[in-house]
Amino acid sequence: MDRVIIFDTTLRDGEQSPGCSMNHDEKLRMAALLDEMGVDVIEAGFPIASPGDFNSVKAIAESTKNAIIAGLCRTKKGDIEACAQAVAPAKRRRIHTFVSTSPLHMKHKLNMQPDDVIAMIAESVAFARQFTDDVEWSAEDGSRSEDDFLARAVETAIKAGATTINIPDTVGYALPTDYAAKFTMLLNRVPNIDKAVLSVHCHNDLGLAVANTLAGVAAGARQIECTINGIGERAGNAALEEVVMAIRTRNADLPYTNNIDTTKITGISRALGEITGVSVQPNKAIVGANAFAHESGIHQDGVLKNPQTYEIMTPESIGLSKNDLVIGKHSGRHAFKKKMEVLGHDLGDNALEEAFAKFKNLADRQKKISDEDLIALVS
Ligand code: KIV
Ligand code: ZN
Repeated sequence: MDRVIIFDTTLRDGEQSPGCSMNHDEKLRMAALLDEMGVDVIEAGFPIASPGDFNSVKAIAESTKNAIIAGLCRTKKGDIEACAQAVAPAKRRRIHTFVSTSPLHMKHKLNMQPDDVIAMIAESVAFARQFTDDVEWSAEDGSRSEDDFLARAVETAIKAGATTINIPDTVGYALPTDYAAKFTMLLNRVPNIDKAVLSVHCHNDLGLAVANTLAGVAAGARQIECTINGIGERAGNAALEEVVMAIRTRNADLPYTNNIDTTKITGISRALGEITGVSVQPNKAIVGANAFAHESGIHQDGVLKNPQTYEIMTPESIGLSKNDLVIGKHSGRHAFKKKMEVLGHDLGDNALEEAFAKFKNLADRQKKISDEDLIALVS
């Protein structure tokens, strides 16, 4: 009951992030890394979007060893057929189809009456089920949909054969309390809800994607849709590494299990940065360059005495070999000595005093002190 399915959409929603498009080989490389890391579902693309996307989804379906391969499609038969063909070679395949359910989207985007949307859900899900028994249905703009209509739409999708029901916070508008309430409402009101897995999909427009994700899971969702480094439309999606490390670090309060090998986090985050040319900001949680770096003398001293003083998780747990002591003007003697030892210079008391004075002088003039600068001080 407490196993959460990790559904990675780096190659689909993530790729919709400006500047983050990937070519065929890059997508295959990312898919292999995601599979190795243990994600349960890889959403490999949107097959109808372009021949390139179709071919990448198909190649990922052919080569992936463990994960379920999903493709996204709208409700049109041609979309669903393209998706079915692209994921067909996978050992385990999923068709993920979606339609908007909020009053705003139905009126202005779809230009459809709610009853017609219900009919379309029934038809598209049933059609997708002809190709696979693993069909996910998403209520686009689900968090801004009316409860009565959303409950009816979800019941219809499950009746037509959907096995996963995803309620996206498409525009990143929800607060954790409202988002959780949507899941509670569905669990209480939809008679066939026990026949499907509920899923969260949160965007980060208000910086709440991870908080909303965890709130949805606490309310009963058991699939998390997320991306590496949190890339995705506009402000991005919930970051896989943040969600997974929150669950691992606070497991007494978030008692869920998953299949992710967290020691692969740093490697995959850097691979994605290298592929897209978009690296994360230095203070990004978990994978930012400063996430395990301690600069102030007080913090450095504490971490050297006992890492738990200022670290809630170990660098090794995300695949970093050691904590990174950043040496700057706030650093103390203890950290400076330690850093010099790492750089191969075990300084005696006098040499240490002399080098430390020179270092403080340099740090007053220079913002960043590199390893080379430190070595130059003592050579
Ligand atoms: O944000 C969203 O609504 C989506 C759906 C297409 C799943 O990405
Ligand atoms: Zn999305």
